[in-house]
Order: sequence, then structure tokens, then C-alpha cells
Amino acid sequence: MTDLRTDLGEAVAAAFAAEGVDAAVARVTASDRPDLADFQSNGALAAAKALKANPRELAGRVAERLAVDPRLSAVEVAGPGFINLKVSDDALAHRAQGVADDAALAGASKVAEARKVVIDFAGPNVAKPMHVGHLRSSIIGESLKRLFRFRGDTVWGDAHFGDWGFQMGLLIVAVGDEGKADAFLAEGEGPFPDHSPVTLEDLERLYPMAAAKAKEDTDYRDRARKATAELQGGRPGYRALWRHFVAVSRTALEREFGALGVTFDLWNGESDADPLIPGMVEVLKQKGLAEFDQGAWIIRVNEEGEKRELPPLLLVSSEGSAMYGTTDLATILQRRQDQDFDLVLYCVDARQGDHFEQVFRAAYKAGYATPDQLEHAANGTMNGSDGKPFKTRAGGVLKLHDLITQARDKARERLKEAELGADLPEAEFEDIASKVAVAALKFADLSNSRTTSYVFDLDRFMSFEGKTGPYLLYQTVRIKSLLRKAEAQGVLAGPIFVKEPAERDLVLTLDAFDQAVSDAYDKRAPHLIAEHAYRLAQSFSKFYAACPVLAASEPETVGSRLALSGAALQQLETALRLLGIESPDRM
Ligand code: ARG
Repeated sequence: MTDLRTDLGEAVAAAFAAEGVDAAVARVTASDRPDLADFQSNGALAAAKALKANPRELAGRVAERLAVDPRLSAVEVAGPGFINLKVSDDALAHRAQGVADDAALAGASKVAEARKVVIDFAGPNVAKPMHVGHLRSSIIGESLKRLFRFRGDTVWGDAHFGDWGFQMGLLIVAVGDEGKADAFLAEGEGPFPDHSPVTLEDLERLYPMAAAKAKEDTDYRDRARKATAELQGGRPGYRALWRHFVAVSRTALEREFGALGVTFDLWNGESDADPLIPGMVEVLKQKGLAEFDQGAWIIRVNEEGEKRELPPLLLVSSEGSAMYGTTDLATILQRRQDQDFDLVLYCVDARQGDHFEQVFRAAYKAGYATPDQLEHAANGTMNGSDGKPFKTRAGGVLKLHDLITQARDKARERLKEAELGADLPEAEFEDIASKVAVAALKFADLSNSRTTSYVFDLDRFMSFEGKTGPYLLYQTVRIKSLLRKAEAQGVLAGPIFVKEPAERDLVLTLDAFDQAVSDAYDKRAPHLIAEHAYRLAQSFSKFYAACPVLAASEPETVGSRLALSGAALQQLETALRLLGIESPDRM
């Protein structure tokens, strides 16, 4: 199903073509003056210049051709040659009915050709607590995962778990020094205990301690390095211990992500790419892409004509270790083998931009991917009021778990203030508070464009007024309660017709969803869907204020307005779901 804008675009293109004008100029957009028209086309201006014709005259001839189109109730030429289009009530009703009947897509459309897409997001690390730095990546990645899947692509969301490297050696040493893991420190083949000698609390306590100690104490650092090398070399006891670290961390992380409505199809770790590294390095050396330089192996990534100058990718350090970039490069190779992707989208902080550009250029040189297949969908940060990445009052990074707890507390408080959900059972109230908390955090994040940074302000995010998640949930619940009331009265939705200005506006808004979704997809920009959701909620609100639904005088009007309300709800919930937000049934 196509939207009105596209349908009318085709009609306008045909009319221009009949006047001998290249149809490509005939773009139709939403009107700048909604008080005068619904859509407009400015094509006559550019076309007239090329044809050396008078734009107003050309526009007049095109308008004359369009005037007979039954979908248009008025076609007017304005200013120097704009064509203003007003859609007929019947055409609007027809489109609204199409949206209402479209349970799967709520008026949006699928991509012409489905692709295989890996979305690499969140990137949590073993033992290091998740903090707000991971928040945007998680929220944006989850939304893009849903959006790409919604439009028909085959999508794998991959957590790309940070389970490898120096931090693992640090943990082995720290846990060993506490005497908790003696059984694992023995050399030899094992067997080793199959229950974890450490809890998550142990890991979270030991990791920062060990990281700090390694900065000052070279001896300690060397032991951690050695443990890292032995782990990576396959020492069985270390491997067994490490598997416990990974499992304990992952269980906790999945719980936290779950609370935020974030899930993954793959929990591949950086370690999973490790077996590919020796072979990969060998081939890169043979191909002459890897060069030996000051004791290390590097790949130069400054091709001639490359705009951005970057240092070489460090493939193997002078100590013989694989690096962060090595792992990412090998992961591309692995994804080529496992998913045979058409696109890998990395939802990662913009501050890792140079890293990804290095990795991508190396991957193109190595032939693992073509330049349209790797993309860093960079995100800005969530900042404190000082404009720097958010810190707690004590100056530490805020843990995700604490953020969610804070948000839930605030949600409960706000619901009580607003006297919402007061007479509902405890468990349902708690569920509502969780949904409000998640909606507040996610909408605050996703209503900002992906690349800009924004300031953390829980009070504002949690307000039931303004452009917020809680406002949108409240509007959703309002429609649900209207539909429940209708059902209780035995009133049914009927065929849609459109008369009142507020009805027209609501249908035009419903029509615009398709474009919002496809633009959001093309630009990896969930904020366009957030904007649409807000606009739809407002448009519904105005409709509801101006047009009585159950109290309308004719039964057909009641049926039509109920159907319109149902369509609005369906699209609003679809949009929210694309943002990763669930709405409660009541509050
Ligand atoms: N674990 C990394 C970090 O915490 C992020 C991983 C991002 N993804 C990737 N493929 N490098 O910074």
C-alpha cells in the first residue's frame, strides 16, 4: 500500500510529463501552509527555468490536468508557480480505511529488497558495570533492530560482548589473589569446578580495584599481562575460570537489558573471533597488506584521495597481542562466514569513529566487505548539566542498574501525584511504573537525533506533559479506554468517512507515517519516528477534543470515529514499539 503523497506524486509526475517536463522534478511534499492545502509541488519553478518558460503558466497547465483527478478537491497555483493540492474527503477516507485495516504495518511499507543486516550494539563488557555510556548505543540499536526487521530485513542484533583482552587477565589475578579460585590456578587439564567461585558483586568490586592497581604497580600489571596471554594461549584452568566470569556477567547483563526492553539474537563475544585471528593475520601478511613496522604488524589505511588522515591499524602489537581493531576485523570475517551480511551497522559512541574508519578501510582492502556494507551509526552522549558525559553526584559513572531503579522510583512518584493507577492491583501498578520508566528514558533518548548529545534531566523526561514518553503512554491509554468503553456499550467501528478539519488532519498524519518510517530507516534515525509518534498523539488529541466519538449524533459518525481512533491507536503503538516502548492497557 502506498501513501497519498506517493500516489499524488505519480499523478503530478504524469501531468508534468504530459507538458513535456522531466517527471523527476515533480516531487510532492506536505504543504508548508496546511491552512491552504494538504500537499504541494514546486516542480514548475525548476522545470520552467530549464524550458525557459514562465513558471506560473506551466504550473497553470499542470494544475488544469490535475483538476480532473477525483482524489483532489482543489488544485491551485500560488506565488511564482507552486501547485497546491487539497485532497478530497473521499480519498482521505479511503486512505484512512487502508491504514485501519493494515494490522501488520499500520500504513507503513516494507523495503523493496530485503537485506541481511547485523546490528552490533550495546557492547557491554564482562565485569565492568554497564554505565550510561552504553545507554544510547543500547537504546538506539534496539530501535534500529526493530525498525529494520519491521521493514522486512533479516536482522541479527549482536551484543558483541567484551569478554577478551587485558581486563580478563586482571580479573584472573585479582580473583586468584583473594584465594577464591585456587582450584582453577592449577596447571594441567582439570577437571575444574563447574560452579562459579565468584559472584557478580565480586567481579564488580575486584575489577576497578585491579585496574587501578595495575596503573601503579608494574609487577601487578605484568602478572595480569601474563595471565591474559596464558588465557588466550588456552591454559585450561584459566579458560574454565574465565567461562565462569563470562556466564556470571552475562546473566546479570541480560537481566538489566531485559528491564530496559533490550534483547539480542547473538551474544557473540570478542573471544569468538579470536580463533580466526592467526589465519587472518597470516593471509594479510601474504597479501602484503600487513607490514612490519617498529616491531609491530600494521595495516596502512591512508589510500590516496582519502579525505580523512588516519594512523595505521595496529594488527599485532610488538608484544605479539591482537588488539581491539584486530578483533573487530576478524569479527567482520566471522560475520561474512556466519551471516553473509549485506550490511553491518555499528551503533557505537561517536568517539570510536576513527577506530571504525580504520577497521572498515582495512576490511575493504582485505576484501571482507564493500564500502556500502559497513557503517558506523555513531551516537552522541548523554551529558550532565555541565555538558560532559553524565556522572553521578559523587563523580562516578552512573550504573545502568541504578539509573533504571531511579527512573522507576520517579515513575511511581509521578503516577501517584497524577492520581494514576491508584486503584489498580499492586502488581499492575508496578508494571505500569516500569513501562513509564522505560518510556521516559527511551523517548528522551530517541527524540534527540542520533548524533547529537543531550542533557540528562529525569524530571523533564518523566513529565506527563510535553514531548515525553509518559505523555505518549498516557495518550495511548486514553484511546484504549475509549475503545474499551465502546466495546462495553456494544458499539462497533464502521466504515470511515472524513468531514471535519480535525478528522482531515488526523488522516493526513496517519498518512505521513510511511514516509517517517522509510526516512528513519534510510538515515538510521529513530528520532523521525519519535517525532511522528508525538505529532500523531497531538493530532489525535485535537480530534478527540473537536469530534465527539461515542456521543456523536449519527451512528455512522460514531462508527467512523471509532475506526479512526482504532487506526490512530494501532499506528501509535506500532511507532512506540519501533522505539522499543510498550504501553500499558490502563493507568
Ligand atoms: N565493548 C566496547 C566498549 O565498551 C564497545 C564495543 C563496540 N562494538 C564493536 N564492534 N567494537 O567500548
